[in-house]
Amino acid sequence: MAGRDKAGNQLEEYKKLQNGNASTVTTGTGAPVDNKLAVLTVGPRGPMLMQDFTYMDEMAHFNRERIPERVVHAKGHGAFGYFECTHDISQYCKAKPFEHVGKRTPLGIRFSTVGGESGSADTARDPRGFAVKMYTEDGNWDLVGNNTPIFFIRDPILFPSFIHTQKRNPATHLKDPDMFWDFISLRPETCHQVSFLFSDRGTPNGYRHMNGYGSHTFKMVNNNNEAVYCKFHWKTDQGIKNLTRQQADDLAGSDPDYAGRDLFNAIAEGNYVST
Ligand code: HEM
Repeated sequence: MAGRDKAGNQLEEYKKLQNGNASTVTTGTGAPVDNKLAVLTVGPRGPMLMQDFTYMDEMAHFNRERIPERVVHAKGHGAFGYFECTHDISQYCKAKPFEHVGKRTPLGIRFSTVGGESGSADTARDPRGFAVKMYTEDGNWDLVGNNTPIFFIRDPILFPSFIHTQKRNPATHLKDPDMFWDFISLRPETCHQVSFLFSDRGTPNGYRHMNGYGSHTFKMVNNNNEAVYCKFHWKTDQGIKNLTRQQADDLAGSDPDYAGRDLFNAIAEGNYVST
């Protein structure tokens, strides 16, 4: 593309070199994959099966490729607190935290950015992780979430490819916007999440002024073993606040640990956070 140097145009140059011949997708051990998206399921809408080698190989490889830094959500800050049951939902769910109104269950929570490295700036335009672990009498209950109610993709086999679009181009070791926008433009199901991400709510002002959403549909089971489907939303009591693009850019240079510092200081001053 005109006006770009070689590094910025690496993907265009590479495409030209291929001369229209796409290379073969392979498993981690080099076996060619016929159709990466044809995952074995129980019936047309059923769960995916663990015996699908291509699927498991992709996930196993992807989940272990950054050691020790996490492959996603590498930069984060946590806090401890409690969940208090304020409404009786025992007709829907027998889980211990909802046993009776007023019950408190201890929890740990970790907020994070998603795509950046461990040393990256807290103010990046990126979803924020909102991972809650409740320490219940029946065992730990993880409710992983994000600050966005929707997600980029439906099919998890695309997740490694999607995340790689925000990592470094292996030829340049630079971030490469073509990788991200190629994925977004080729997968229309990303549109809803991207509309959120590129809105004013795409750069939250720290971790205290954003909501958390379980995103997935969960299944609750009551004492009669009857099930209902539900979503989990954590709505901030501090109110939603966001940074402008200019503020986010300035903070990335002057205080890249802005969100973690804000969370630590607020708690240290007794200014506790709740949803
Ligand atoms: C679509 C398929 C997905 C895959 C394959 C995936 C994979 C991963 C992986 C590998 C990690 C790092 C774990 C570690 O090293 O400790 C992670 C962390 C995380 N994921 Fe996902 N993820 C997916 C979807 C989601 C969705 C839909 C959400 C939000 C609802 C989400 C929220 C998170 C959060 C918050 C963390 C950080 C957990 C923490 O702070 O300890 N992920 N994910």
